[in-house]
Amino acid sequence: MPDPIAVLNERFAIAGQLQFCTGENGLPKARIDNAWATAEVYLHGAHITAFQPKSHGPVLWMSPLAQFQPGKAIRGGVPVIWPWFGPHATDRSKPQHGFARSAEWQVAATEALADGRSRLQLVLTDSDATRALWPHAFELSLTVTVGAELVMELTCRNTGDQPFTAGGALHSYFAVGDVTQMAVEGLAGREYIDQLDGNRIKQQAGPVEISQEEDRIYINSADTCVIHDTVLARDIQISKTGSQTTVVWNPWQAKARAMADFADDGYQHMLCIEAANAAEDVVRLAPGESHTLSQMLAVSKTG
Ligand code: BG6
Repeated sequence: MPDPIAVLNERFAIAGQLQFCTGENGLPKARIDNAWATAEVYLHGAHITAFQPKSHGPVLWMSPLAQFQPGKAIRGGVPVIWPWFGPHATDRSKPQHGFARSAEWQVAATEALADGRSRLQLVLTDSDATRALWPHAFELSLTVTVGAELVMELTCRNTGDQPFTAGGALHSYFAVGDVTQMAVEGLAGREYIDQLDGNRIKQQAGPVEISQEEDRIYINSADTCVIHDTVLARDIQISKTGSQTTVVWNPWQAKARAMADFADDGYQHMLCIEAANAAEDVVRLAPGESHTLSQMLAVSKTG
């Protein structure tokens, strides 16, 4: 049987920029190293596990205890949440945050752009396994463009003959020096659903600061957010399209301890800011229609 990594490289490698190799636990991943940045993307979950622009530190947080297992989500990086956000609306036995993050995706295309950026497109289509969880025909693609900025475009297309409704998120885990010494700008004045307080609607006053567990869905929020990180002396700018909800999550100590794939003190060095289609912000697609949720990350030094 031909080596699957060799087959991927033969069809899709870009000399000097993008190669496929074996990642953790034998799972295949794309490794990108171009003039602008390095990045890694697992085919498992179409999961971006690293992004580091040249002359900056890692932008994404990865749990040192992350498990790389077929059928399981990887903790850290950017899990692709789809076709529902959070617990399934009516059946709690179905996987939290949908099935896309734990499915095996295919490589559809790679491209070297004229300005030195590299592009990788992964796809997932419906199968017996997905239809058992969600009875719809679809094509989901994640296009990742690696330059000084990281651009992720998650496009879902209804390939069936019935309309469907889907939620989702690019569930980005950001690396921060100390979560208690950073602030997130861009959500002031927005209302949010406090998932830790009976889903009460509250209003954000000023920047978001973290000093305890938080799990919030900001509504009517298409805004660009900026993480001002005083310890790492950098700003991370997070902009997006196709999303009216932004999720902010930090599990804090007790929840981190309770998760097998989360180091006990890991919560101090991460914050999730998620470009989402969550709560009422779900997408209704007629046959043939598509929707793109995109997120763009840019880093700048402040020190
Ligand atoms: C966030 C949710 O998006 O993801 C939280 O708002 C959830 O409620 C968190 O705890 C992590 O989810 P999971 O399934 O990856 O442990």
